[in-house]
Amino acid sequence: MSAGFTVAIDGPAAAGKGTLSKAVAAHFGFAHLDTGLLYRAVGAKVLAGESPIKAARGLDARDLEAADLRTPAVAQSASKVAVIAEVRAALLDFQRSFAARSGGAVLDGRDIGTVICPDAHVKLFITASAQVRAKRRFAELSARGIEDSFDQVLADVQARDARDRERVEAPLKPAKDAVLIDTSDLSIEQAVAQAIAVVDAQR
Ligand code: C5P
Repeated sequence: MSAGFTVAIDGPAAAGKGTLSKAVAAHFGFAHLDTGLLYRAVGAKVLAGESPIKAARGLDARDLEAADLRTPAVAQSASKVAVIAEVRAALLDFQRSFAARSGGAVLDGRDIGTVICPDAHVKLFITASAQVRAKRRFAELSARGIEDSFDQVLADVQARDARDRERVEAPLKPAKDAVLIDTSDLSIEQAVAQAIAVVDAQR
């Protein structure tokens, strides 16, 4: 395996990027970074009263382990701080160093293939219909005891997608050379197998 082999995985909220990225990383023995966690950690600090830019510049590895980063309120706050250029700039070096580590890395997010790692060896763009994504997120939140209605979860996912796609800085879009995988009608196993096949073809 060549040093610094990078896999970029982007896509809208709740498309299955996290599950796929973990599975691809485990299969190839690569490190994995969920870059959404960086924005969630900043979003959580803003909910606690900090200013977004100060929070992003002062982010610490321990902040990524905070217990409440996976709540709907933090997700919305994350997508609001993510439109701020200085916030994105403050998080850039950490992501690029992670991507360049020896032994290979998988990064998942919104702008990995377009901005963070434009030279990634493999770029995947994972999609699914908004209905399917909201259904999956609803099931995941319910299992964790978070009782939002399905309609609320769907509205949250759509609001976040719109903000992520329409922002000026690093908007959510597939890189020109990304391979698209629509997981709407795929099982997790099928989606993982497709992703692994794409990475294998580039090694
Ligand atoms: O991936 P996740 O849903 O945890 O991301 C939370 C929010 O962080 C996204 O809605 C998006 O606004 C932002 N984000 C981003 N760029 C990334 C990863 C996440 O703007 N690379």
